[in-house]
Amino acid sequence: MPETKRIHRFGVVESTNDEIRRLGLAGAPDGTIAVAAEQRAGRGRRGRVWHSPCGGLWMSVLVRPGAKDIARLPALSIAAGVAAADALEKVFVELGLPPDSIGLSWPNDVLVDMKKIAGILCEATSVENSIPFVAIGIGINVNNSPEQLPAEIQEHSTSVKSLSGNNWPIEKMLEIITIMIDNRIAEFKSGSLDNIIAEWRKRAVLFGRNVILQSPDGNKRKVVPVDIDNRGRLIVHNDNGSTESVEFEETTLIR
Ligand code: BTN
Repeated sequence: MPETKRIHRFGVVESTNDEIRRLGLAGAPDGTIAVAAEQRAGRGRRGRVWHSPCGGLWMSVLVRPGAKDIARLPALSIAAGVAAADALEKVFVELGLPPDSIGLSWPNDVLVDMKKIAGILCEATSVENSIPFVAIGIGINVNNSPEQLPAEIQEHSTSVKSLSGNNWPIEKMLEIITIMIDNRIAEFKSGSLDNIIAEWRKRAVLFGRNVILQSPDGNKRKVVPVDIDNRGRLIVHNDNGSTESVEFEETTLIR
């Protein structure tokens, strides 16, 4: 698809994931991208607000999964996190920043020295018991600064600009992340998750640390993550000595 047709550009939107949903329902092809200068109602995981002022990269990619991909969809969000880390690593190398300061929390938060620089929200659209497409929403703090964020998240957030002291061209960021996400989606669709999991594992920041795990029903418990399995689930040690793999929980590092 020519890049000009593929990328839908917006000024201010509620959420680029909503734009992808609209485009997807209208028949837009696999790989369609929505990108906005600003989001008025940016969403994070678990119903959280994602603050999206001008200066960040707020984008979503439409993925039409094959029949065999449906059961593996949670791993798509792992793949997207790896792609965002790949993209930031490339930018860091060009800026002379240390690429090994970039890490991944589970499932897909991208951190720099434990401060969040990018987040991913994958939302599947279902129509008559099928999932025709998924929106992979990617938010990267590029030229926005943590000072634009509410005080409680400021100290745990960072951006390319606050790390390098300079603006980084948003268009170039979009170009790089598009290449990286295309590669990781192709890898995901090819059937084997091995390389994606290995790349995620290399950047894992939670292993061996005390973490609060919150289940979808709101229950919380302390665990120690020790690995990721071949489906992208987090393997954790519980306080009672048992080990299990979790798929739908949320992690918060105990600092
Ligand atoms: C998270 O870390 O909780 C996920 C954040 C995802 C933010 C992106 S920005 C583009 C897309 N549109 C949204 O409303 N959310 C995602």
